[in-house]
Amino acid sequence: MRQGTTVRDYIRTIVDFPHEGIMFRDVTTLFADPRGFRMAIDQMLHPYAGMRIDKVVGLEARGFILGGAIAHQLSVGFVPIRKKGKLPGTTISQDYKLEYGEAIVEIHDDAIAPGEKILLVDDLLATGGTAAAGIRLIERLGGEIVSCAFIIDLPELGGRKVLEDLGMDVHALCD
Ligand code: PRP
Ligand code: ADE
Repeated sequence: MRQGTTVRDYIRTIVDFPHEGIMFRDVTTLFADPRGFRMAIDQMLHPYAGMRIDKVVGLEARGFILGGAIAHQLSVGFVPIRKKGKLPGTTISQDYKLEYGEAIVEIHDDAIAPGEKILLVDDLLATGGTAAAGIRLIERLGGEIVSCAFIIDLPELGGRKVLEDLGMDVHALCD
């Protein structure tokens, strides 16, 4: 167990994963610590006190862990956005670029009703490609995104600006 007073203290950095030159910010050490995990969930929820949120949408894979805990805390439903080919029902798809590659994400086409207020959750904002694809999927279903919540923002990769240029409210616990 890592001892720490801030969320940042519980995050581990793995150098050259999954490719040379990538400083991988590993939140499994945060999730594994009861104090760190609770601190992260409480702080991610803090900006939304008193706001209407109908559903939490989480981005695969670490957004599922955070989004599930946040949805439980808010007593609302959770909807996964998954990598292509993983969801069993009828889906809509969106392609996007990663810091290190390309991918396609999907959502069930009946997972969000038009006008529902959505909180989008993931562990980390890098280029913003994954979150932007998620935003596109939610908006194609008629969902209204209240905010996008992350643990980590990597400012040098410009994701916050990408999301803000899409009109999004963005919150991250640390840079
Ligand atoms: C990581 C992270 C975000 C995304 C951020 O996921 O959890 O989802 O990258 O990068 P971006 O802002 O440049 O799009 P990853 O693609 O490694 O997938 P995984 O969580 O399924 O391992
Ligand atoms: N996803 C994209 N870039 C990342 C990084 N540097 N650490 C963890 N996840 C990432």
